[in-house]
Amino acid sequence: MTDRTDRKIIKNTCVIPATEPESRKSLENMHYYPKVKKFVKESFAKKGKFSDELRHFWRTVYWLKKLDSKADEAMLIAAVAHDIERAFPISRSKWQKNGKAYFLQRSFSAAHGRAGAFKVEEFLKKERAPGALIKKVKMMISGHEYGGNYWQNLLKDADSISFLENQGPLFLKFHRSGSLASDDIFKKFDWMYGRITSRQAKAYAKPMYQKCVKYLNKFYKDT
Ligand SMILES: [Fe+2]
Ligand SMILES: [Fe+2]
Repeated sequence: MTDRTDRKIIKNTCVIPATEPESRKSLENMHYYPKVKKFVKESFAKKGKFSDELRHFWRTVYWLKKLDSKADEAMLIAAVAHDIERAFPISRSKWQKNGKAYFLQRSFSAAHGRAGAFKVEEFLKKERAPGALIKKVKMMISGHEYGGNYWQNLLKDADSISFLENQGPLFLKFHRSGSLASDDIFKKFDWMYGRITSRQAKAYAKPMYQKCVKYLNKFYKDT
């Protein structure tokens, strides 16, 4: 069942403000999560990809906590930094040659997860974080696109909800700029919704998915 806040969120699908996912007080017992969050913010600011990306990360943290209220620090770190690869992008050229959008290819998604996990590991090691925390963060980020175990599935599901909630206008922006074909946008939405594992996550995501598909259909009919 969805509560009143969730209904409001769903109603406003695709335009969630980029507010941070937690109060300062709730971070008091956390040492590494605020540091990683700052690292994520600064890394994307340097790339000039600020608000759209950050909104997606903050909302991924929000949804991960919603799906597991006992989420620990490693899980929040993995959520906030799961797409850090995009701030330190691996070359897409290998995947752009075969006529299929790179972001729809499994081997690209796996490489994106591995590269992000490596970047966060590097940062946490410099911060002298405990080995067990680093291991869990790496495991979750490297598997966030396809899932596998409980934690990887949880992050994958939170990522999907956050994506469906916010990325509609962003993908249209890419389409208008000529960098994305309409078929690929629909495939991406289908894939992000279809990969969700938990029933609870599916219930949150369904109206968002339907709203985004309707939104995109209307856009293509009108243009
Ligand atoms: Fe990702
Ligand atoms: Fe993501």
